[in-house]
Amino acid sequence: MQEKIKELLAEVEEFKADTKEHLENFRIRLLSKKGKISLLFDEFRTLGPDMKREVGQKLNDLKNRAQEKLDSLKEKFDSSDSSSGPSGDISLPGETMTTGSRHPVSIVRNRILEIFGKLGFTVSDGPEIEDDWHNFSALNFPENHPARDMQDTFFIDEKDKIALRTHTSSVQVRVMENSKPPIRTVSPGRTYRNEAISARAHCFFHQVEGLYIDTGVSFADLKQTLLHFSKEMFGPDTQIRLRPSYFPFTEPSAEMDISCPFCKGSGCNICKGSGWVEILGCGMVDPAVLDNCKIDSTRYSGFAFGMGIERVTMLKYRVNDLRLFSENDKRFLEQFKSAL
Ligand code: PHE
Repeated sequence: MQEKIKELLAEVEEFKADTKEHLENFRIRLLSKKGKISLLFDEFRTLGPDMKREVGQKLNDLKNRAQEKLDSLKEKFDSSDSSSGPSGDISLPGETMTTGSRHPVSIVRNRILEIFGKLGFTVSDGPEIEDDWHNFSALNFPENHPARDMQDTFFIDEKDKIALRTHTSSVQVRVMENSKPPIRTVSPGRTYRNEAISARAHCFFHQVEGLYIDTGVSFADLKQTLLHFSKEMFGPDTQIRLRPSYFPFTEPSAEMDISCPFCKGSGCNICKGSGWVEILGCGMVDPAVLDNCKIDSTRYSGFAFGMGIERVTMLKYRVNDLRLFSENDKRFLEQFKSAL
């Protein structure tokens, strides 16, 4: 009996099935009621207790091995069956592929660049980590200006005054240092300020700043350029108004409002009844800034402006919370799929 068990075990181990029928034969031959293993169990029952003890375990092992082999081969045939033909309900709707779309801030940035591109403005880029010179000193910020404070600006290295840029005016300094007038450039990019996050403020946002330097550039050029931009961006009925303001790097400086794009100036809750909404800061480049950048301020003059892209996007698409732009909520982002 021990011999037979050994032989059958070898047969089980060596067995390979090419087809399902082959496997079924194996089952009948060994494991069915009249199969070889079942017959061995019949024989086992006739043995005396000593012999039973000797072969019982081996016989059980043989049966288990045969069963395992049968199960594993069966599984193999079953799974290859399903991959060789259609399975499931092929009339069900297919899985939809979601396609990405542009972020609203990118859409509006591209539009701003396009409008100024048609006026001959090039696009310039610069580092987000800036030194004191490019972010503050060259731009005429006095030593004690609040923006130079930790409270307003993220300093990476306090001793060397390395900070995350607070505006892309720093890029304009780099352009002025590295090229000669006439200069017409717009600088888009991410900027950082140490602000408490709310619906109207965030610790980072995006800007496009613009710079135009040539001989004889006047405030009238600034005004006409920005009026053109506003009409292109918000529609031909748009009007602008300039309010006196202050920036260290421009003189004179102004805040620009556009007529409220929602109520067209008649007064609504967005413009708080005034008919105007603030959109950007601007002014004539301070001669001290030109001199800092080695541009002859007796020969050249220029204007500059800077706007927050999120702000323009909020006004264009009636978004009421700045935080939505950085939350990555698809329900929000998908609404801009068809926007251009
Ligand atoms: N740099 C200013 C800001 O970040 C914007 C600005 C740019 C104002 C150019 C005037 C001229 O707020």
